[in-house]
Amino acid sequence: MTEKKTVKLCDVDGLDDESITTTEVDGRIIAYCRIGDEWFAIDDTCSHATVSLSEGFLEVDDKTIECPLHGSVFSLESGEALTLPAIKPVQSHDVSVVDGEVFVTIEGDPS
Ligand code: FES
Repeated sequence: MTEKKTVKLCDVDGLDDESITTTEVDGRIIAYCRIGDEWFAIDDTCSHATVSLSEGFLEVDDKTIECPLHGSVFSLESGEALTLPAIKPVQSHDVSVVDGEVFVTIEGDPS
């Protein structure tokens, strides 16, 4: 069975709209962002090379992030690599908001 872990990221007003930041969960860096009332969380390390996606470019209309090194675009919703050179996804994580607090549920090992 795959183990799940839910941890608090921040209060709902703890991150500005259209901003991205990171947190560490058991040695794994998770990038999370807010677009309006929607929250997204993905593994922070690009699947193409060891680069932090949270240092890339958030595209709020498309709900994507562009890797700062080679420009692959990843879906914030699914983690899918939408453009080359990355061909593998990054793992996306469920985010929930409960009573003004934002939580992420991490499942599985880093990809
Ligand atoms: S390191 Fe991200 S696309 Fe190459």
